[in-house]
Amino acid sequence: MRILVVGGAGYVGSTSVETFIEAGHTVTVYDNLSTGHRDSVVRGARLVVGGMHDRARLERVMREHRIEAVLHCAAKSLVSESMTDPGLYYRHNVAAGIALLEAMRATRVTRIVFSSTAAVYGEPKRVPIAEADRTQPINPYGESKLAFEGAMRWFAAAHGFRAISLRYFNCAGATERNGEDHDPETHLIPIVLRVAAGEQTHVQIFGQDYNTPDGTCIRDFIHVRDLAAAHLLALEATGEADPSFEVYNLGSAAGFSVREVIEAARKVTGRAIPARVVKRRAGDPPRLVASSRRARRDLGWSPRHSTLEQMLADAWAWRLSHAAGYGRRKRRPAARAAAERELERVSAADREADQEIELDTVAIPVGVGSR
Ligand SMILES: NC(=O)c1ccc[n+]([C@@H]2O[C@H](COP(=O)([O-])OP(=O)(O)OC[C@H]3O[C@@H](n4cnc5c(N)ncnc54)[C@H](O)[C@@H]3O)[C@@H](O)[C@H]2O)c1
Repeated sequence: MRILVVGGAGYVGSTSVETFIEAGHTVTVYDNLSTGHRDSVVRGARLVVGGMHDRARLERVMREHRIEAVLHCAAKSLVSESMTDPGLYYRHNVAAGIALLEAMRATRVTRIVFSSTAAVYGEPKRVPIAEADRTQPINPYGESKLAFEGAMRWFAAAHGFRAISLRYFNCAGATERNGEDHDPETHLIPIVLRVAAGEQTHVQIFGQDYNTPDGTCIRDFIHVRDLAAAHLLALEATGEADPSFEVYNLGSAAGFSVREVIEAARKVTGRAIPARVVKRRAGDPPRLVASSRRARRDLGWSPRHSTLEQMLADAWAWRLSHAAGYGRRKRRPAARAAAERELERVSAADREADQEIELDTVAIPVGVGSR
């Protein structure tokens, strides 16, 4: 298959590109490198630097490379940013997305898989969440992804598209070559590993009085390799389908608590990882977990790498081999040394008072978010 991966220089996109190349497909990456990294594009894939809003350019690329199917992973995806600048999210995630669909229509490319999000469900009434459950996003990020899903559905009905949307919460882990390097970073596992690496003094736990076994929130994590496999299975499924729009959740069904993640990271890294319990954040449901029964049944997907230990071990191995992430090698050493000194100072104090301290002020504004 000749596949266009829009957003293929990002975390999820680049690992999917690796999987597609390994499976013998021909891949063109289309990415504006706004949050992605040129170095993440594997040998064998072609990189075109361009914005998704540029419909004419997309049409030229689709014709020139005789594209047969599209994986769409390009998005703005910071929940807090979406709350303060919703227009940005509608421009990128909806308006630019429509340019992509129009370019596909003009070039008669009708197969598309969309990397969506379980944020479309908002605060669920029950868990694990099933695809038919109510969608009621609580932020413009989730709302804009849901709006694009709606456009896909109507392009399927009107123009014969065969479209699949994959909804998931948190993706974690790494391949040997590609891993997570976001700036700012809002995801729990990379934040925990930053603390392990000495780049941040501690991780914050937002509340430990939830109705869960250890009192901390439970979140769903999928290994990025399993996600890449799901993207490939979904792309293959669009080849057989009649015009349609399908939605599949990708989840672990059980999830892991914030405290479990931190404990497992301490074991995997052998580092202290100081943690501080701070107040709950508004709008954090106790448990966010998606059911992937449908994806297992229809796509034949079954996660093989999504144990907590495997995700942490792979993410940690990637960090150790890419200490400065992609391409920020010059400015990190000084910051790193300062962070290490700070960690030393805080860890020494924490060791005496256990590793987890109650604080009611927020020292460092890092989040434990779900996208
Ligand atoms: N990472 C997660 O845990 C997670 C969880 C749920 C859903 N998702 C979804 O998966 C997708 C990928 O997430 P990610 O973590 O890889 O993000 P990312 O920021 O690493 O990757 C996004 C890529 O898209 C590119 N891009 C963004 N806007 C573009 C535009 N207008 N034109 C061209 N390229 C553009 C960026 O440069 C980047 O390479 C997103 O749609 C996100 O909503 C991610």
